[in-house]
Amino acid sequence: MIEFRAVHKRFANGTTAVHDLTLSMPAGGITVLVGSSGCGKTTTLRMINRMVEPTSGTIHVDGRDICSQDAALLRRSIGYVIQQSGLFPHRTVLDNIATVPLLLGWGRRKARTRAAELLETVGLAHDAGKRYPHQLSGGQQQRVGVARALAADPPVLLMDEPFGAVDPVVRTQLQDELLRLQKELDKTIVFVTHDIAEAIRLGDRIAVFRTGGRLVQCATPAELLARPADPFVADFLGAERGLMLLSLIPLGDLPRRPVPEGGRWELVLGPGRRPKGWRDRSAGDGDGALLPVRPLRDGDSLLSALNESVGSPCGLVVRVDTEGALTGVTSREEVHDRAGTAHASAARAASAPPEPAPRAGDHPPVADPAPASAPGTTGGAP
Ligand SMILES: Nc1ncnc2c1ncn2[C@@H]1O[C@H](COP(=O)(O)OP(=O)(O)OP(=O)(O)O)[C@@H](O)[C@H]1O
Ligand SMILES: [Mg+2]
Repeated sequence: MIEFRAVHKRFANGTTAVHDLTLSMPAGGITVLVGSSGCGKTTTLRMINRMVEPTSGTIHVDGRDICSQDAALLRRSIGYVIQQSGLFPHRTVLDNIATVPLLLGWGRRKARTRAAELLETVGLAHDAGKRYPHQLSGGQQQRVGVARALAADPPVLLMDEPFGAVDPVVRTQLQDELLRLQKELDKTIVFVTHDIAEAIRLGDRIAVFRTGGRLVQCATPAELLARPADPFVADFLGAERGLMLLSLIPLGDLPRRPVPEGGRWELVLGPGRRPKGWRDRSAGDGDGALLPVRPLRDGDSLLSALNESVGSPCGLVVRVDTEGALTGVTSREEVHDRAGTAHASAARAASAPPEPAPRAGDHPPVADPAPASAPGTTGGAP
């Protein structure tokens, strides 16, 4: 647990970067800091490893006031990843990763063995270890940055826009990797980003700051999307916040029905009853021209179902089991109805006592579906 209590940071030039910040960042969770440029995210992060000292207030990590600890030792117990990876250009990748273990006196052999293990952990090939940072792509360099931060197995990881400079596809891969790693490693992570979709995807809790270093709201992604604290937060989340909320809700028990017999569209199956595509019976051209289908599993999100339902030629969402075999179809209307009630439940849940953030794929739904006419149903509408 990282706890800020009434923390204030005013730089020598008079700029207040952080204003009276009281915030708890739970152990074993990802807390994401978001907000417009210059609102104090980096300053907040850098106060945790004492690269910046607060003007007043206290910061505790696992119950200990960080000011009572030696700053250099504290820094070695906290991993730090920045946007341009911050690797030493004249050291090999393996030596870069081994930096902190060497500083901690592990000995060269043990440090390099650990570095080689970490290469694999972050999804890099063994031979990448012998290269220099400039011989890797931007995405690969970020992976090395993450490996280096994890090298001494610190309980806390600070990440300042670590994936900000890579293209969207690589960024998604790096996010997936981070979520996979976090499941195994259970670190306390503080993650800064400008990208609200990234915050929603990664955060267990999201802290929204406004200019002047003022914290406006700290909540789970679902709470934030369903009940932004004020118009500033709502604006910051953007016009698609209703859709973003659906990305957090798994399909789960949405009804599944047999594929309708007859009609214009036939679902063509391949081996193992795997859906191949939709065939237009009225076109009469056999299996030749299939319209693509992207079958969904129960852990996929309501947003992907909505997307499928508008893309499907007959408005049916195709469902499969974990092996990819057909289990049934769900109509566009059923998806839309569930999307509406999910908003209502999320808004209600957001006004109830806080609960852990649900996430499509590995958590139960936000809340039980509620009738569309329930009070407060407009709370989460986009
Ligand atoms: N060393 C410093 N001396 C004076 N002012 C500073 C210093 N570091 C940061 N600031 C100012 O403090 C404010 C907060 O800066 P900070 O870097 O924390 O913002 P940020 O939210 O990380 O912004 P960005 O999203 O652009 O990275 C800004 O107004 C910045 O100009
Ligand atoms: Mg910054």
